[in-house]
Formats: sequence, C-alpha cells, structure tokens
Amino acid sequence: MRVEKEWGLCFVGFGNVGQGLARLLVKKEEELASRWGFSCRTLAVVGKTKGALVRPEGIGMADLLARVGRGEPLGSDSVSPVEAALLPGVDMVIDVTPTNLSDGEPGLSLTRAALEAGRHVVTSDKGPVSLAFPELKKLAEARGCSYRFEGAVMSGTPSLNLALESLAGCDVLEAKGIVNGTTNYILTRMEDGLEYGEALREAMEKGYAEADPSGDVDGWDAAVKAQILAGVVLGSPLSLASVDRRGIAGITKKDVEDALARGHRIKLVARASCSGGTVRASVAPEEIPLSHPLAGVTGATNALTFTTDTLGDVTIIGPGAGREETGQALLSDMLAIAAGARKEEECLIKQSHFH
Ligand SMILES: NC(=O)c1ccc[n+]([C@@H]2O[C@H](COP(=O)([O-])OP(=O)(O)OC[C@H]3O[C@@H](n4cnc5c(N)ncnc54)[C@H](OP(=O)(O)O)[C@@H]3O)[C@@H](O)[C@H]2O)c1
Repeated sequence: MRVEKEWGLCFVGFGNVGQGLARLLVKKEEELASRWGFSCRTLAVVGKTKGALVRPEGIGMADLLARVGRGEPLGSDSVSPVEAALLPGVDMVIDVTPTNLSDGEPGLSLTRAALEAGRHVVTSDKGPVSLAFPELKKLAEARGCSYRFEGAVMSGTPSLNLALESLAGCDVLEAKGIVNGTTNYILTRMEDGLEYGEALREAMEKGYAEADPSGDVDGWDAAVKAQILAGVVLGSPLSLASVDRRGIAGITKKDVEDALARGHRIKLVARASCSGGTVRASVAPEEIPLSHPLAGVTGATNALTFTTDTLGDVTIIGPGAGREETGQALLSDMLAIAAGARKEEECLIKQSHFH
C-alpha cells in the first residue's frame, strides 16, 4: 500500500504503555508502511519527572527507548503536555498518563486542548473517558477529529471497537465480563487453595496488584470499565458513582470451594445492560456455571461477552494488561484514524473529478 502521509506524533507519558507503543512502531515500521500505508514521525515526548524531548525533525525512537531503558531522562526541553500537543506538525496526541478518576488530570486538559485544536487523540487513560466522554466526543465531532480509547478496556484485546465497528448493526443488549486481571488472578489462586490474603500477597509480589490494591480488589477499576461500556457501547453515559460496586475482599476460600462443588466459579463480573430502555452498570462477584466461556478465563486474562439481538452471545478473550498489549490498542486506533483520513481524501478526489 502507498504511504500518503507521515503522521506527526506527540507522546504525553512514556512509561509502560508509551514505551510499549514505541517498541511496536520501531519493530513494525516496514510492515506498517507496506501493509497499512502508515508512516509516522514522533515530534515530542513528554514525561513528568523524566523531562521532555522536542525535535521538529523527528525523534529516533529506537535510541530513545535504549536511553530510557538505561534510566536516562527523556530530555531537558521545557514544554508542557498541552504545549507539546499543539506544536506545529502534530497530528495525533497519545495520552498515556496515569488514570486519575478524581479530576481526570493531566489527561483531561490535554485531551480538551488537543481536540479543540483539531488534533486526533488516542489513549489508554480511563480518567477523561470516565469523567467527560460525551463532551469529548462532541468536541471531536465538531472539530473533525477522532477521540479513540480502545486501550481503556481490556488493553489490546478488541472490546470497544469490536462492539462499535465489527458488531455494527447488531443491537448489543448487554456486555458482561472479567475486565480486571488482578482480581481474576487472586480468585484463580484461591481455587488452588490459597486464602484471600495469601493470594493478594502473591499478586503483589508478581506485580499484578499495586502497593495499594484497593483500586482492583474493591472493584473500582472494573466499575470504570463497566461505566465506559455503558456509555460507549450501550450509548448511555452514567456517572461512576451510579455503578453498583462490590469487590472481592469479602470472598473466602470456602466460598470459592463451595461454588466449585456446585459446578460454578466465582468471578468478579463487570456488567452493563439495557432493560426496559434503562441502562445499568454494576460490578460484583458472581457464580458462573463452568459451561460458560467466562468460567474458563483464569489468571490475569480478561474476557467480555456481548449479548446481541442477531448473533446471540459473542465472547472475546485475551490479555487485559501489558506494555505492548496496550500499545497494540493504541496502534489499532492510530491505524483506524489513518484509514479514515485516507477514505475521506479519496472521496474528495472523486468529488473534484466529478465536478
Ligand atoms: N500498564 C497497563 O498494562 C495498562 C493497561 C491498560 C490501560 N493502562 C492505562 O494507560 C495509562 C498509562 O499506563 P502506564 O502503565 O504506562 O503508566 P506509567 O508506567 O506509570 O507511565 C505514566 C507516564 O505518564 C507520565 N506522567 C505522569 N504525570 C504526568 C504529567 N503530569 N505530565 C506529563 N507526563 C506525566 C510519567 O512520566 P514520568 O515517568 O516522567 O514521571 C510516565 O511517563 C494509564 O492511564 C493506565 O491506567 C495501562
């Protein structure tokens, strides 16, 4: 495929996911050009404690990855995230800053400013989606650009784009699934005979759970994903506070064993469903029959079942976290934006020939 445009990128955040995406762009540079007609140049990379690097001629990403890998700073350029996003030549802003569910910052101000200036935004940051999805969607539409966030739910495993694009024309009545790998890992290890506290400690040792695990075990992370599914897939924006939320802290080894004896597995299930015209979202531990695809999802893997009018149940299973795995979500959104722009250009060319 012919490369028609070199897309100017600005990374805000260059931690796990930012580096994961950068690694994919370096590793797949030729394939992205030949198979997808996609070529890009990174003009700015901005961190918080590690400084910032701005190079209008383009940043050598393999070299930057090597330097960051050795613990070196990004650079010493003085530029804020918003200033970097608005630099001349930036077409796509990649927001890979930490998720902040209280005020959405720094991602929310960055996203508003970038969209306002007509720049596309791709992100795995759940904060702005949770707090301001309707506003940001409207802003993107008004400015003729895209706001895409596939990586916010199930990392690179297609979930939002699957429902919106591949299932286009189907009525999705419910999305339910296992969208938090940490709690699923803990529940799986409890089936292996560990008490809750032991399984949680092991998850922390392996880096699945953070030092403060409450975001995972109290169900907040799953709740924000249920909220996003309700807003994006079922078209009903809800507040995070309106998601009924119960975590796994009260589950005992005996509960897990008793469920197994009944032919069930306990899973932390996030659910967004529409009934009688009302959309609700919830997170709670549920007993799933062993025959259901979600019951077979163990460890840190994620899965979602979409219940649709035309196809019945469609289940997707895959990684729910990881550097390159989440980078893949961003990459697929970037390719979708590039494909959309190419189609628009072809339409304009056809129209100009016609006139
Ligand atoms: N990791 C995953 O598997 C995964 C999966 C799905 C979604 N996500 C989401 O993806 C996002 C990124 O995750 P991550 O794991 O890459 O996080 P991370 O490793 O903690 O990296 C965060 C990056 O953001 C930068 N940053 C923080 N505050 C900033 C600010 N005010 N201005 C500019 N840069 C700032 C940090 O810079 P310094 O290093 O310079 O401080 C760092 O480069 C999060 O929203 C997360 O919830 C992650």
